[in-house]
Amino acid sequence: MQSDWEPIRKRVSCRAYQDRPLEPARIAQLQDKIQELNAASGLHFQLIVSETAGKPAVKLLAAMFHGSPNVCAALVGGEDCISGEKVGYYGEKLVLYATALGLGTCWVAGTFDRKSIHPDIGPGEKLWDVVPIGYALETVPARQKMIRKSIRSRDRKPEEFLESDLPLAQLPMWVQKGVEAVRLGPSAVNQQPVNIRFRNGTISARIWKKGHGLEYNDLGIAKCQFEAGAYAYGVTGHWDFGDGAVFHVSKVVSGGED
Ligand SMILES: Cc1cc2nc3c(=O)[nH]c(=O)nc-3n(C[C@H](O)[C@H](O)[C@H](O)COP(=O)(O)O)c2cc1C
Repeated sequence: MQSDWEPIRKRVSCRAYQDRPLEPARIAQLQDKIQELNAASGLHFQLIVSETAGKPAVKLLAAMFHGSPNVCAALVGGEDCISGEKVGYYGEKLVLYATALGLGTCWVAGTFDRKSIHPDIGPGEKLWDVVPIGYALETVPARQKMIRKSIRSRDRKPEEFLESDLPLAQLPMWVQKGVEAVRLGPSAVNQQPVNIRFRNGTISARIWKKGHGLEYNDLGIAKCQFEAGAYAYGVTGHWDFGDGAVFHVSKVVSGGED
């Protein structure tokens, strides 16, 4: 398994896309990844591809976005909290995969036209989010720069993501790396509502801030990011699902990566 540290560092919410459709080979890679993630999770993610020149896969709000890619992922899953968490966890795996392919992505729960997209939604399911996927503009327009700056200016410090009797600097490096990955990850309106707990050697993840309705997406995203950060420092493990659930270490694989 390849480390996701590079995509974790590189990923930002891309709100400015080139007017350049994704090549069929790239689309096939994304389709395969989605199939793999659905098989592992039981979710119903779908890749929406517009075959019509100039027609986007989903209409994004023009006030927030520049350009609209011809491909997007529709993150469909059950309506309950655990499904919301799984959407976050597996959706972030897709985002990191697309980032590793050199593509721009953005989690979008609100600022798109729901009538412009028609994924298959089964009984008991809903469309949680869309993720436009395309080539990022090399020079980010001033408007999108300003949007990002104003949202991420509320970033919390690394220590604020940790609930522990020990200071962050005294925890194992792989835990520090996992916490850093959580800090770098996306969250709805940059609320960063998930903390990592380290008590008596046990690690868990907890939603400390409820309210905007997408905190279970954020919980899954934070768990994916933590796991990838830990792996980059040589530790494999897996999470139980649920608020307050535990991270199980499986094995130490190799030395760390900076
Ligand atoms: C579940 C979820 C929903 C989001 N919805 C939107 C959205 O509707 N519109 C938008 O512009 N950004 C949306 N974002 C992106 C966040 O604003 C972004 O992740 C956060 O500001 C941190 O910035 P970064 O992703 O560039 O690190 C969403 C993110 C998540 C995780």
